[in-house]
Amino acid sequence: MRAVRIHQYGGIEALQVDQIDKPTINADDVLIEVKASSINPVDWKIRQGYLKDFIPYELPLTLGWDVAGVVTVVGSDVTDFKVGDEVFSRPDITRSGTFADYIAVKADEVALKSKKLDFAQAASLPLAGITAWECLVDVGNIQDGQRVLIHAGAGGVGHLAIQIAKAKGATVIATASTKNQALLVELGADQAVDYSQGTLLEQIEPVDLVVDTMGGEVQAQSWPLLKKGGMLVSVVDQPDEAIAKAHDVEGAFVFIQPSRRILEELNALVEQEQLIPFIENSFPLEKLADAHLQSQTGRTRGKIVIEVN
Ligand SMILES: NC(=O)c1ccc[n+]([C@@H]2O[C@H](COP(=O)([O-])OP(=O)(O)OC[C@H]3O[C@@H](n4cnc5c(N)ncnc54)[C@H](OP(=O)(O)O)[C@@H]3O)[C@@H](O)[C@H]2O)c1
Repeated sequence: MRAVRIHQYGGIEALQVDQIDKPTINADDVLIEVKASSINPVDWKIRQGYLKDFIPYELPLTLGWDVAGVVTVVGSDVTDFKVGDEVFSRPDITRSGTFADYIAVKADEVALKSKKLDFAQAASLPLAGITAWECLVDVGNIQDGQRVLIHAGAGGVGHLAIQIAKAKGATVIATASTKNQALLVELGADQAVDYSQGTLLEQIEPVDLVVDTMGGEVQAQSWPLLKKGGMLVSVVDQPDEAIAKAHDVEGAFVFIQPSRRILEELNALVEQEQLIPFIENSFPLEKLADAHLQSQTGRTRGKIVIEVN
């Protein structure tokens, strides 16, 4: 089968289309024929060696951690899937990835995909959707009527977070550059904020919850936007406890794990027509390097899909 692997950390030249054996599965795994995957910034960060001190990968490594596909083999301990099931997953990031024809995934990291989603759409949801859900719901404890600020609302995580926050009854304020203001409104934002037009403090009334997908200066500018008792949840930079305390708010950091439970929550929103991924464009597996380059610009609108089979 084909697998796009890195044999050493580095630039896009490190990506290699290899012919390798199909993965063998454990008793609690299913083997999925990959129909589609999607790009996340973690793919090129891992390629560049950014996580090598946290996760001791053995190289060569297949990248990619979103999948939508069809179950082709079921492990002997697996009772909840059968051959032919159409599924999606954000598999364990410490195992081999999804930019390949097949992947072995623990069954409890997999969910049946909604029939309302095609494979490209289903492959766009798991990693970014689980991230948005964890920030807003599991950690942020979002409540009906709250004011929620979502940074990078046009990006992979942000465009799903806007829709989830609206589904939870929040008033949503989202940030993007000038060219993405209309997209924020189409996604459901109540207030679209252009970060190039003045400071955030000038443009945003106090909020209960901030979803920080940017870190750095954006996180620094976000603390004074929170009401007392509010919360900033970051997926990029661990919030400084002393700064949070000085503003009388909480700071939290999220690093997501696979979750069938959250995939099923996302499916439910899709079924209720409250959530749909926005796909900017797609690339065939062999053109993965071009997709990495596009993602690395930091200007992605919604998701970039990788078509595999
Ligand atoms: N900890 C975790 O578990 C976890 C999980 C998922 C993601 N992440 C991280 O979260 C970050 C976001 O991921 P993603 O998939 O959403 O990235 P992405 O899709 O690449 O984000 C691109 C978006 O960022 C926007 N953007 C750039 N600078 C901005 C700014 N100053 N203010 C507001 N928006 C800005 C761009 O909009 P404009 O072009 O309009 O500026 C673009 O739409 C990445 O660093 C990723 O690695 C962490």
